[in-house]
Amino acid sequence: MLNFALIGVGGLGKIHLANLLELEQIRGDIRLVALCDVEATRIYEKVETNLGEVSDSVDLSKFKFYQDAYKMFENEKLDFIVSALPTYLHEKIAVTALELGIHVFSEKPMALTPQGCQNMISKSEEKNRILMIGHCLRYAPEYLKLKEYVDSGKYGKVQRAEFFRYSATPAWTWQNWMLDYDKSGGAALDMHIMVLSQ
Ligand SMILES: NC(=O)c1ccc[n+]([C@@H]2O[C@H](COP(=O)([O-])OP(=O)(O)OC[C@H]3O[C@@H](n4cnc5c(N)ncnc54)[C@H](O)[C@@H]3O)[C@@H](O)[C@H]2O)c1
Repeated sequence: MLNFALIGVGGLGKIHLANLLELEQIRGDIRLVALCDVEATRIYEKVETNLGEVSDSVDLSKFKFYQDAYKMFENEKLDFIVSALPTYLHEKIAVTALELGIHVFSEKPMALTPQGCQNMISKSEEKNRILMIGHCLRYAPEYLKLKEYVDSGKYGKVQRAEFFRYSATPAWTWQNWMLDYDKSGGAALDMHIMVLSQ
């Protein structure tokens, strides 16, 4: 049985929560043991995200709840965490968890700087623990199909590609962190995949 915790139960955290609890039922070998959010009331609030309204239909009182992730690490024996924290906190929590031997699924964007990303990768390699970033679009059927066409050369060599991504301004985030460039990295970082410079 793999014990895990969800850290950051905001807009996306609630989507993860619903999916993870369903996965728990399907697999039978993972168990959510704790939730962590700095805002105790937020885990019960409905959030209107640009992916639709998310709320929790499950009884959250059956899980241990922490407002401090570091206290949770001290008290719980965790195999992996799912981190849906604001972007500026991704690196620190991931590096801390990996250092403790905990596998990490962390939301995108990976970190605010290439060095931050590298620190996460280095720690995962050093500790031999999995680090996965939630770049969900890579698994979207449209993107997979496009990759298949490009890889197979079915329509010849790509001459030019144009992509457009549209999103409403995220207005639901905790203390509006998403609209603070220093915390989110701005729209370009948030909506794209960061490429590490060599
Ligand atoms: N993969 C995707 O499609 C996708 C979609 C939306 C958002 N995201 C990413 O998910 C992350 C979270 O975004 P969101 O929209 O859920 O934000 P949010 O503000 O709704 O949720 C963040 C949660 O973290 C909590 N929090 C803040 N500081 C904390 C701390 N120190 N310890 C514990 N909890 C803390 C807040 O109270 C809040 O509930 C962001 O990095 C965002 O870019 C990914």
